[in-house]
This record gives sequence, structure tokens and C-alpha cells, in this order.
Amino acid sequence: MHIIVTGGAGYIGTHTCLELLTSGYDVTVVDNLSNSCREGLRRVEKLTGKSLCSFYHIDLIDPLATDKVFQHCPDAAAVIHFAGLKAVGESVAQPLRYYQNNLTGTINLCQSMQRYGVKNLVFSSSCTVYGTPASVPITEDFPLGVCTNPYGRSKAMIEDILRDLHQSDPEWNIALLRYFNPVGAHESGVIGEDPNGVPNNLMPYISQVAVGKLQQLSVFGNDYPTPDGTGVRDYIHVVDLAKGHLCALEKLQQQPGAFACNLGTGQGYSVLEMIAAFERVSGQKINYTIAPRRQGDIACAYADPSFAARELGWKAERGLDVMCRDTWNWQSKNPQGYASR
Ligand code: NAD
Ligand code: WQD
Repeated sequence: MHIIVTGGAGYIGTHTCLELLTSGYDVTVVDNLSNSCREGLRRVEKLTGKSLCSFYHIDLIDPLATDKVFQHCPDAAAVIHFAGLKAVGESVAQPLRYYQNNLTGTINLCQSMQRYGVKNLVFSSSCTVYGTPASVPITEDFPLGVCTNPYGRSKAMIEDILRDLHQSDPEWNIALLRYFNPVGAHESGVIGEDPNGVPNNLMPYISQVAVGKLQQLSVFGNDYPTPDGTGVRDYIHVVDLAKGHLCALEKLQQQPGAFACNLGTGQGYSVLEMIAAFERVSGQKINYTIAPRRQGDIACAYADPSFAARELGWKAERGLDVMCRDTWNWQSKNPQGYASR
């Protein structure tokens, strides 16, 4: 089966392409390389011993270029849509760029899919659509909350657009996968997360302190109503997350329809617990200081992953130590990331 993967050169995309190739899928990647480089996918091909069908260096906001991909892939069965901009702070500073990229890119993609009769879509949504949840764990029927930034709102808007699309034409089969906090890397240490500039997210920040690229981690707030006062999140290994996409593809085939699904572990860890686990597993000391809360942060979010277990037959298998081990393995073997960027 031939799958088109948008944003396949990025962090989650490379890990998903690896799982798809390993499982025997034909894979075509579309990416404008705005937040990635070709090297990740070259390494995926090397690791799997398999080649992509094609790589298209195009931008989804270009409708003609997007159409061409489908013209050239008449046997495409489904699309996994990772392509999007994802930096929360940047989205506050550049809302138009974020809305244009994420919304227009998705609309163009769906229009091309419609024109070429490809109506199976797996979309990268985010737990950010829940806003500040009234309680934890979070189930899929929680109301969609008030997002505190344009990035989060772009995800919530795209979810609405895709639900409308399914409503208008039930031939569309759509999985809205709400990721919690992806971390870690492939166990080989050959591919991993390679953030541009100073990382916004906790785990890459910790690992860059560990490798000596950054001096000190700021822990954003220690006065939250959590056991140790620091923020609690549901960290999920990127390989588990990648495998969730294959389960979603199978589900769409076996039981057509549209659904939203959390991809998380169901277990929350605080910032201090993350630092302690990383230190234990890597043997590196993480220099940190307590800093004020970061604007827009919430105290605590973790998934109820039972819908995914029941409906997709998927469950995260890798625990916190493996997340830290694989992050450190990647970071220590690739201190400059893919470097060629
Ligand atoms: P990433 O930036 O590593 O990957 C996204 C890829 O999309 C990049 O390779 C980028 O070059 C490409 N891209 C962006 N805009 C494009 C466009 N207009 N046309 C073509 N390609 C384009 O990010 P990631 O962490 O792999 O995230 C993948 C998806 O998952 C994103 O949609 C993101 O919003 C979502 N998500 C990520 C997280 C997370 O914490 N990493 C959490 C929840 C949801
Ligand atoms: C985790 C915890 C921070 C950095 C973000 C997006 C969300 C989703 C995942 C895409 C929090 C604390 C962090 C640091 C810290 N992305 N922290 N020092 O905020 O849960 O979610 O990424 O959809 O939309 O908002 O993840 O990794 O930034 O933060 O203390 O330098 O670590 O305050 O408690 P977050 P994160």
C-alpha cells in the first residue's frame, strides 16, 4: 500500500517513515524542508535498507505543486499529514505565517486529495486542543478548550475543517491523532529530534545541557498545584507514537469513519522527575535553576489512552528510562544534530 507522508523529513515524520518502510508500505514524502533536512530520510533509507518511492521538495501552500504529487502517485491509498509549523512562541509573534502555513497547507492538501480520490487521512493534532483541562486524565470527549496561542488554535481549526469535510462526504476517513509530548529517538541513535536554534521543549533542552551545548535549564515554575510544584506532562516515546500511525491507518481501512484519538502513555511526570530520570540514565549532571512560570503553560496534562487501546489496538510500550536512554544515545552520537543544515 502506498502512503504519502507530508512533513516526512521532520522529527515524527522520519520515525514514522521508518516504521512504514519496515512494515512493507510504499512511501512518498512531501516536505518543504523549512524545519528539517534531507539527511534524516537518507538515514531512514540506510537503516531500513529500503528506498522511498519519491521525495518531493515542495510547499503545501502551493496548490499546483501539491496536485502534481497526486498526479504522480495514482496508487496512493492514504496520506499521513505531519507538515506544519509547531513553535508556540513563534506562532504568537507570526500568527499570519502560522495560519497560512498550517491552514492553507491543509486545505490545499485536502483539495488535491479530493481531486485525485484519495480520501483517507491521518492528521497530526495535539493535546493542546484541550486547552486547560478541567481534570486529568483527559479523554477524547473532553470539550475542546481555549488554546492560548495561534499554533494551538490552528490545530483546533484544522480539526473542525476535517470534521466538516467528513460530514459533507462520508467517503472521507479521517483520524485526528492528538499527541501528548513526543520525546526520544530511534534506538539506533541514527535519527532523532534536531530542533532549529534553542529548543522550546523540555527534553531536547535537557539533552543539550547534558551534551554541553547549553549552560543551564530553566525550570518554568515550581509553584504549580502538582506534587513537587513543577509542570506535569505525558511524555511519549516517538517510536511508540510512530507505530500509532500505522494502527490508525489499519483502523481507517477496517472501520471507515472519522475519529479523534489521544496518543499518550497515561502517565504524567513532572519537570523535576524528568531531570532526575535523565541524570540517572545518562550519568550526566543537569544544571538547572528555578525560573518564573512560562506564559500559557498549564499545571498538568496527561492522557487517558484507553480509546487508543480499545479502538486501535495500540498502547505505548516504552517507559521513561527508555525515553531518556534513546534521547541521550541520539544526542551524544549527534551533538550537532544532522549538522548538514
Ligand atoms: P517537525 O517540524 O520536525 O516536522 C514538520 C515537517 O513539516 C518539517 O519537516 C517541515 O519542514 C515540514 N513542513 C512544514 N510546513 C510545510 C509546508 N507548508 N509544506 C511542506 N512541508 C512543510 O515537527 P514534528 O515534531 O515532527 O511534528 C510533526 C507534526 O506533529 C506537526 O504538525 C506538529 O504540529 C504535530 N505535533 C508535534 C508535537 C511535538 O511536540 N513534536 C506535538 C503534537 C503535535
Ligand atoms: C513541558 C514542561 C514546561 C522547557 C508543547 C506545546 C504543545 C505540544 C508539545 C505540539 C512544561 C517545562 C519546558 C524548559 C521547562 N506541541 N519546561 N523548561 O509545553 O507541554 O507542550 O509541546 O503540539 O502544543 O505547547 O511541552 O516540552 O515545552 O514543556 O521547565 O526549558 O516542561 O513548563 O511544564 P508543553 P514542553
